[in-house]
Amino acid sequence: MSDKLRYDGKVAVVSGAGNGLGKTYALLLASRGAKVVVNDLGGSTHGEGADTKAADAVVEEIKKAGGEATANYDSVEHGDKIIKTALDAYGRVDIVINNAGILRDVAFHKMTQKDWDLIYTVHMVGTYSLCKAAWETMRKQKYGRIINVASAAGLYGNFGQANYSAMKLGILGLTKTLAREGASKNIKVNCIAPLAGSRMTATVMPEEMLEALRPEFVAPVVAYLAHEQCEDSGQILELGAGWIAALRWQRAKGGFLPFGDSSPEAVAGVWDAVMNFDDEPEYPETTQDSFPPVMGNLERYKEAASKL
Ligand SMILES: NC(=O)c1ccc[n+]([C@@H]2O[C@H](COP(=O)([O-])OP(=O)(O)OC[C@H]3O[C@@H](n4cnc5c(N)ncnc54)[C@H](O)[C@@H]3O)[C@@H](O)[C@H]2O)c1
Repeated sequence: MSDKLRYDGKVAVVSGAGNGLGKTYALLLASRGAKVVVNDLGGSTHGEGADTKAADAVVEEIKKAGGEATANYDSVEHGDKIIKTALDAYGRVDIVINNAGILRDVAFHKMTQKDWDLIYTVHMVGTYSLCKAAWETMRKQKYGRIINVASAAGLYGNFGQANYSAMKLGILGLTKTLAREGASKNIKVNCIAPLAGSRMTATVMPEEMLEALRPEFVAPVVAYLAHEQCEDSGQILELGAGWIAALRWQRAKGGFLPFGDSSPEAVAGVWDAVMNFDDEPEYPETTQDSFPPVMGNLERYKEAASKL
């Protein structure tokens, strides 16, 4: 067993920490020495209303257990106010966990502008806003750990969640770019796609599963990602119930249109190769990895043209 991972002297901001997964992140980090800003708007899963009780209750629980915490009740799109709470109370911010979330599930043909806009505001703008507000401080102190929250719905698509899936995959794109931009300043940015019982999943999970899929299974993974010992960045992990796995892109070797024929029929002719993941697949990790087949084919065309 390795040494106990501690967060003494570190300041963590956890958005949506009044319930569910966020609450377990805040409690765990605080129990291991972090000073925690417990942010929660206190509204419904549907994104309506506001209440200070959720954040206050978690702050109280942390303090009762001997930890340090401060409540913040702003909605996450006001990241500057939330980070200000951390800076005013503790003078720094080392860890940001972009956990706050709501759902407005409905089939796309029935989705209203409000359903789209609210999900965009809480998930996409909220995550951007907290990252943006903490970024300069993290750059200056040459230290930061950011954990963003995606979802299987974003990675794979899910009926009734066009709004939510779009934002959750957008959050992965933001994560991957911030991981690159933060690398030289020791800012690590990772993303999780958790599965856990919470009020959010209460409508879609049977009672037994809700109880078994405890958020406490997810919290240690988030805590590990939030620790200085974690060197990985730009990763996306799927996890739940004690299972944790990294996910990556896989690209088929692909099909090459014959020189001089860029017709739709030529595309049909190479379609099996386009869709074939069995024959020499690749695992691109950067935009640079993305280009070689394109450039390689240009070379092939040039060579073919020179022989005409
Ligand atoms: N539970 C799962 O299986 C699951 C799966 C995939 C992704 N997620 C994601 O994990 C995160 C946490 O979900 P959960 O299941 O714990 O849900 P939850 O409803 O229990 O907790 C979400 C918390 O976010 C708060 N919140 C909502 N809007 C806010 C806002 N604008 N500003 C500040 N706080 C706000 C809520 O008040 C609530 O306390 C979400 O981002 C969710 O999309 C959860």
